[in-house]
Amino acid sequence: MGIVVVGSMNMDYTTKVDRLPREGETIMSNFFTTVAGGKGANQAVAASRLGANVSMIGAVGCDSAGEVLLQGLKDEGIDTGGIYKVDSATGNAMITVDNGGNNTIVVYPGANRYLGREHIKEFTHVIGEADVVVLQLEIPLDTVVYTIELTNELKTSVILNPAPAASLPDHIYKWIDIITPNETELELLSGTDDIEKGSRALLDLGVKRVVVTLGSKGCFYMDRDESFYVDAFKVDSVDTTAAGDAFNGALAVAMVEGMGMKESLRFANGVGALTTLKLGAQDSLPHRREVEKFIEDN
Ligand code: RIB
Repeated sequence: MGIVVVGSMNMDYTTKVDRLPREGETIMSNFFTTVAGGKGANQAVAASRLGANVSMIGAVGCDSAGEVLLQGLKDEGIDTGGIYKVDSATGNAMITVDNGGNNTIVVYPGANRYLGREHIKEFTHVIGEADVVVLQLEIPLDTVVYTIELTNELKTSVILNPAPAASLPDHIYKWIDIITPNETELELLSGTDDIEKGSRALLDLGVKRVVVTLGSKGCFYMDRDESFYVDAFKVDSVDTTAAGDAFNGALAVAMVEGMGMKESLRFANGVGALTTLKLGAQDSLPHRREVEKFIEDN
């Protein structure tokens, strides 16, 4: 029982600049660091630090970056039995962060590209025993679709974070319990930039619950009976990298713990906000006690 994350693992090369460069421009960085990342692994670590029992299914290359990422997840207490070593470089991401905490991210998928449906099939028992499976879109779409089909057969709940944005086949929407697009992803999936109309369109496709993440504005929730906004916590962000991943990991934890939806979203907003206070992806993910104190104090 617990949370199974099926997704990407990347080594992040993060550089800090006063402002993001313009096209064709060379600028100097004032800080550089290498940090464990990847949307899938970030969500797994977020959930684990919040106290959940987490298993990860993913892929790394047979290189030193892959070893570091794998060991990092083991050190977090995550079950890494579902992480394959494939004949490719480990995935990486080039991340540039400006003084306002805004970023640009370019991902080279590497080993993530080789996580196929045959790998998921081998872990059918793990998916069948999970309370919730969390997915994103940095692994092949076919693998995501297959996993969602499998969760439907096995009656396991699914949270899909449709990032980075990509079109999805219509037949899988009805098997998604919660979908968590940001505004850009919602527009691509629904064809409208109106948050409420876009959320309604996803419900009409069959999704049970829609959560639109709105960055510093918090998030918007809609199901067939109700809809509401939940404000963000006000913080001075240093780096927004992995804030969305932290939000998704927290939402999965809240689901497993049976929190009500408003409480879940406040909890996830708190985890996301705390993640923006430090540089880097997994380095910045908070532990449960910090989150509880932060929410209580705010
Ligand atoms: O969401 C942030 C993550 O996106 C980074 O850790 C990077 O690896 C990319 O996957």
